[in-house]
Amino acid sequence: MKVLVVGGGGREHALVWKLAQSPRIKKLWCAPGNPGIAQIAENVDIGAEDVDGLLRFARSERPDLTVVGPEAPLVAGIVDRLREEHLLAFGPAKRAAEIEGSKSFTKQLARRAGVPTADFQVFSDLKQAEWYIQEKGAPLVVKASGLAAGKGVIMAETVEEAVAAVRMCLVDGAFGAAGAEVVIEEKLVGEELSLLALVDGETLALLPTAQDHKRVGDGDSGPNTGGMGAYSPAPVATEQVLDAAVREILVPSVHEMAKSGRRYQGVLYAGLMVTPSGPKLLEYNCRFGDPETQPLMMRLKSDLLELLLATAQGRLGEQTVEVDERPAVCVVLTAPGYPGSYEKGRAITGLDEAAGVPDTVVFHAGTTVKGGRVVTAGGRVLGVTALGGDIGQAVERAYQAAGRIQFDGGVHFRKDIAARAMNRGPSARERRPKSR
Ligand code: AMP
Ligand code: GLY
Repeated sequence: MKVLVVGGGGREHALVWKLAQSPRIKKLWCAPGNPGIAQIAENVDIGAEDVDGLLRFARSERPDLTVVGPEAPLVAGIVDRLREEHLLAFGPAKRAAEIEGSKSFTKQLARRAGVPTADFQVFSDLKQAEWYIQEKGAPLVVKASGLAAGKGVIMAETVEEAVAAVRMCLVDGAFGAAGAEVVIEEKLVGEELSLLALVDGETLALLPTAQDHKRVGDGDSGPNTGGMGAYSPAPVATEQVLDAAVREILVPSVHEMAKSGRRYQGVLYAGLMVTPSGPKLLEYNCRFGDPETQPLMMRLKSDLLELLLATAQGRLGEQTVEVDERPAVCVVLTAPGYPGSYEKGRAITGLDEAAGVPDTVVFHAGTTVKGGRVVTAGGRVLGVTALGGDIGQAVERAYQAAGRIQFDGGVHFRKDIAARAMNRGPSARERRPKSR
């Protein structure tokens, strides 16, 4: 089979790495890919958001499956466009991708389907938003409704901060069209959980549980980032939490999507808050998580190509998701200064030495090749990912490998990835039956 993967980050490197292991793969392209991906697939120089360019490529090369990594092309309708050309794609259609593209849509979906989520209201009028904030009092969470590259969520500890956040969206246009509508919601307290499921329209197959680390510094300090690390499984996902999440959140959401003419096919990523009264939905993403996908792909034993094909063809009921019992940990190496301003083009050394640590893979994200050398090309540069006999060994291996890598000018990574899992001890069995 000929497969095209769209994207060029750590998530796509992990997907390509796993797809390349399928015996049915004859040709694997990645657009635009990265230098790590280039070692196992053919990079195609087309940006992940260049939907017209990707369409032209797909029309001429006729991939048997196109796997779309990032949300932007999904929300722009790339899957619908491929379908018009009679090309099979993994990922939701435009109307279904709205589950990530519009937070107000998803909150209303949750309300209709009776899915537990933070209490909320949607506003496009400043005065009404201000009244609501005064009435509710702080703390509150203010969110730009549209896609804002992970930056559109403001945690307001005071009424003044909440009002300022709403003004920033509605008056100053800080997030452009994405902020023309705001969701104001109750602040939930608990532990976060990333729960991903393959969904073929009606059948769901859970992937291993994971947790990511969004803040730049140890102990969850400093600003939010695109993700500083992740691990799987997440001990917070006990049997009881998983049961509730599937029964009260995922299944009713998928049914409601189908009922409203937005049949969901692809991977559904639920960002959950596990509160003392059970899991609640924070948000949905219409794609695989980054960096959660890096540990997930290392733990997945099933053939990823078969799973993605079955999802896209609506026959997920025939498949089982086999998972390696061993935990996996991903430590993200960033350029110093990220998520603020940082240098690019810095030489990277020690990649081969790092890959020499047992059961360890160095996934590339923000890298490029210059003058025959691999150099940094983004804030999040690499995702060093390791499996271990237990979470402690996985952590040890990931850090041993990370310690072997240097960027000219320095490298930053968190020292406490998966610390929460280590403090909690072994997780509950997480393999769950498929649900309809
Ligand atoms: P979102 O993009 O909606 O997932 O929000 C990004 C991050 O903001 C989440 O991963 C949480 O850490 C935090 N967050 C969002 N909504 C809430 C909420 N209602 N209560 C507490 N934290 C939240
Ligand atoms: N790990 C968070 C995300 O992929 O959105």
